[in-house]
Amino acid sequence: MPAKVCAHGRVEVLGNHTDYNKGLALAMGVEYATTVKGSRRTDDRIILRARDLKKIWEGSIQAIQPSETESWANYILGVLQGLKECGIPLGGVELEIHSNLPMGAGLSSSAALAIAALRCLKKIFRFTLPPLEMAKLAQQAEHRFAGVKCGLLDPMTILHAKKDHLLLLDFSSMQVKAIPFPQDAVFLIANSGEKHALVTGEYNERRESCEEAARLLGIASLRKIAPLEFVERKEELPERVFRRAAHVVFEIARVSLAVLALGRENLIELGRLMDESHVSSKFNFENSTPSLDHLCEVSQKCPGHLGARLSGGGFGGSTLHLIESNKQEEFVSTFQKKAHTRLGHPIDLFVTSPSGI
Ligand code: GLA
Repeated sequence: MPAKVCAHGRVEVLGNHTDYNKGLALAMGVEYATTVKGSRRTDDRIILRARDLKKIWEGSIQAIQPSETESWANYILGVLQGLKECGIPLGGVELEIHSNLPMGAGLSSSAALAIAALRCLKKIFRFTLPPLEMAKLAQQAEHRFAGVKCGLLDPMTILHAKKDHLLLLDFSSMQVKAIPFPQDAVFLIANSGEKHALVTGEYNERRESCEEAARLLGIASLRKIAPLEFVERKEELPERVFRRAAHVVFEIARVSLAVLALGRENLIELGRLMDESHVSSKFNFENSTPSLDHLCEVSQKCPGHLGARLSGGGFGGSTLHLIESNKQEEFVSTFQKKAHTRLGHPIDLFVTSPSGI
């Protein structure tokens, strides 16, 4: 049976690098999405077509290996391999991908591709899989076929993305709660134009620092320590490890505060927490870049600014700005001009409300 499905990109609103530390994050789907359509073949061939990239990958379902030249295909190949290892009977298949999600902008085009492919394969081969298992398969595809030791934030957000809602994700209990988002603000995503270099090892290195901090503190994960106790035990950690872990411990606390703020529809407080998160990325976690810092600084000088921060892994990619809905146009035109002057090149901007299926 031919199938056509889609998966929205995601943006992390607050809770940076908290997912693999069993922490909390607030995230949402964006208006842009990846579509995968496909059908079954009668032989064992896999044919993957990336329409926008004008690329094709061909092979057999019997021998799936990461591709060295077609990195885009790896997210689907990783998913196919994971399904095979789960014992799901598969056969030859043709999949065609089309996406309006910018790649490398920090909107998780890779996880959106993996989830869209999974949704499509579920329909074609008629199997069921609970959302958490789907998220883990997408995550494993990224670990094993792309080399990034990412957490579950991206696939979980993409799977649960809901229109006009933020998602509160708890990576300890694995519960997801949709929180209504007021109409008084919208989000703007500014693509710094720097290709984010997650794969180069900075991401994996940050993860190791967090694991080292938990080990030295004798706790199972950074979720297990409250900010006050963490500060009291500062001397137990090397200075750099302390700063990196501080980012995560306080991000988790900021997410809890943001949930309370959302309950009161207090977007000024949500914005303040976003600003604070960026400062912590810059000085503690060191996953910001000069361009991302400029975009956040410029934002603060624009009418309607509520908050701004880098979003996602960091080291390039995009910043996320919370702006008052009734100042949207003014904000966008001022920001565009100021950001162009500051960075020396035009910036791609996308305005979005929380989106999903
Ligand atoms: C990337 C990873 C996620 C998460 C974020 C940072 O997007 O894929 O798992 O760790 O960075 O919060």
